[in-house]
Amino acid sequence: MDTLIEAVSLTKKFSGLTAVSGVSLSCERGMIHAVIGPNGAGKSTLINLLSGELRPTEGKIIVDGVAATGYGPTKMSLLGVGRSYQRTNIYPSLSVLENCNIAVQSRLDISMRFFGAVSFYPDVEIGSKRVMERLQLDALAHKKASDLSHGEQRQVEIALALATEPKVLLLDEPLAGMGAEESLKIVELLLNIRSDFAVILVEHDMDAVFALADKLTVMLNGEVIESGKPEVVRTSYRVQEAYLGEDIDE
Ligand SMILES: Nc1ncnc2c1ncn2[C@@H]1O[C@H](COP(=O)(O)OP(=O)(O)O)[C@@H](O)[C@H]1O
Ligand SMILES: [Mg+2]
Repeated sequence: MDTLIEAVSLTKKFSGLTAVSGVSLSCERGMIHAVIGPNGAGKSTLINLLSGELRPTEGKIIVDGVAATGYGPTKMSLLGVGRSYQRTNIYPSLSVLENCNIAVQSRLDISMRFFGAVSFYPDVEIGSKRVMERLQLDALAHKKASDLSHGEQRQVEIALALATEPKVLLLDEPLAGMGAEESLKIVELLLNIRSDFAVILVEHDMDAVFALADKLTVMLNGEVIESGKPEVVRTSYRVQEAYLGEDIDE
């Protein structure tokens, strides 16, 4: 199995509060591992640990066989961990293409500074066109980002994450605020691109989660209360209890 990211007993304490407590999970290439749980469960904190935005209090992170515990966002990105942000990081006055160019260029600048390779500078726009094509954004290339619909902006956010050519894609609620039709489109896009990445997906939309996930981890109060195949989680008593008796299909 081609395990691209692994968290081992990850813990994150904020003065007095344990936001993430002994969480272990892994994801292989071509797999989508969804992390679900009620608000405050620690899902975003977990994503921030895996992206290097936060440093774990305890535990280990391994990226494609490399011990990456304590790495910051730049080093994580260089190892191949890409993420989309819950808050948007799009430049509104620039076109979709220009936004992609900036993301591709910044990736090159960073690797250049890191590896000191100044002799080779591939065409930025080739990289941009590739990610726009994959996210079906070609037709919108010259549209100003601020003129895009909410769903289209989310598509661009995922494209910007792909511009860093990640092995691991971390998505924190990519469907938040979307209508049913826009959500379906993103679900389809993720199904199309999944084979190249290991995807860790935090999402509230259960239809999308069950359409996409190969594996599910359910968190509550920082802890994993259930983990496994979707059908196991769907019927788990502990999970239903955590959702206060709600049917998790709804
Ligand atoms: N930077 C921080 N400082 C202190 N507490 C935080 C910080 N980030 C998150 N928390 C707390 O950690 C818990 C988990 O938050 P979060 O990871 O955002 O949950 P989720 O994404 O599952 O809704 C919450 O109680 C939240 O208030
Ligand atoms: Mg969150």
